[in-house]
Order: sequence, then structure tokens, then C-alpha cells
Amino acid sequence: MTIHIGAAKGDIAETVLMPGDPLRAKWVAETFLTDAREVNAVRGMLGYTGTWKGHRVSVQGSGMGMASLSIYTNELIRDYGAKTLIRIGSCGGMQPHVALRDVVLAMTATSVCTPSSTILRELNYAPCADFGLLRDAAAKADAMDVPTHVGGIYSSDTFYDERPDLNDQMVRHGILAVEMEAAELYTVAARFGVRALAVLTVSDHLQTGEAMDSSARESSFSDMIEIALTAAFA
Ligand code: HPA
Repeated sequence: MTIHIGAAKGDIAETVLMPGDPLRAKWVAETFLTDAREVNAVRGMLGYTGTWKGHRVSVQGSGMGMASLSIYTNELIRDYGAKTLIRIGSCGGMQPHVALRDVVLAMTATSVCTPSSTILRELNYAPCADFGLLRDAAAKADAMDVPTHVGGIYSSDTFYDERPDLNDQMVRHGILAVEMEAAELYTVAARFGVRALAVLTVSDHLQTGEAMDSSARESSFSDMIEIALTAAFA
């Protein structure tokens, strides 16, 4: 048990999927895992452990934003021995060729700052995904024929952004999509020598203003989870 996770030691698997939304953690556990049981409910940030194709897996909500995700990843790694952390979440498309429902595999995550900025100070650290996870996720997405983009994303501290000029520079420099967690996930994982990847589904688009409806969300989120689980155990 830690400050933010009520699970007993040993209750959490070495592989953890991390959606932002705790209710999505419940849905993933009920839909994809067998024998899933709730292992955390502290602050309503639900976590589950079960099995997928014989492999032990946990699904733990991270909450929204890097400050929240940082707490859960620190505790999962340092106190529960997590070795593979895969964020499964949504993102906003930032390039014309990145369409709604497409999958984005975040090779790198740019940010203005992260909770780790206080540790890294003047260092302009480049958070990047684990190569093996990224390669295996890309191979699975390809085999499933899911339209997928691999490249840099932006981890923002704000959903209600007021810096269109910054977005313009990001678009100009090839950033594929925006979300709010991956840069800190990659940085914390690197600090403790574990593997991390963010597998994202494009749920809205910054340029077109389109947004996915709820039924489209569910089916395309299933692809993302299949990709994440396959990469974790490839
Ligand atoms: N901004 C930030 N995070 C997001 C977005 C967005 O437009 N869409 C999904 N996650």
C-alpha cells in the first residue's frame, strides 16, 4: 500500500496499462482481461489486475495531466515493481494527415515543462519511448491494418490552451498530436530503467474541430488496447 494506491504488494503486475480515465480502466479490465479484480480504489482512481492470454496485467488509471500520472507511475515502479508501463489514451490530431480514429504511437514527447523539470532543471531532456515496445506496437498495428502514425507528440499542461502561436510551431515541426501525460511517463520510466510507451487514439482534431462520437470511441479504443497488450508481451 502506498499513499495513492491501496493494493497490497504483489497485487500489481509487472505490466501496467494506464488510461487517464479510471472508468476506462474498469472497462478495459472487464472487456480484455480474465479473472480481473479491483486492486485500487483510493480517490476513485481505479486499478485492476487480471490476465490476458495467460500474461498477468494490471490496468491503473493515471488521472489527467502529468502531475497526476507522475504520482501513479512513481509508486507503480518504486513500490510495486512495475517494469512495463503503457499509456492508452486519447489525443488531439495536429497534422492534416492525422485523422480521427487513427492511432498515434508516440516516439517522443515534447513539452513546455513536466513535473520532472524540477529535477532536470536546465536540461532540455528528450523523453522517448522504449524502442522494443514501439517497434512491436507498430508491427501489430500494421498487421491489424489500423491507420497508424509514429512520431513526436506534444504533452501539454493545459487542455484549454491559449497559445496558438506555440501550436503553430509544433505543427511546423511535425508534431502529430497533443495529449497531457506521455512526456512525464517517458521521463519517469527512463529514470528507473523501465519500459514505457504511449499508444493513443485521435479523438478530436485541432485543425478541423472534428470530434469522435462515443460509439466510435469504443471501437477504436479497442484497437489501441489490442496493440498495447500485444506489444507488451511480444
Ligand atoms: N488537447 C489536450 N489533450 C487532449 C486533446 C487535446 O485537444 N484531445 C485529447 N487529449
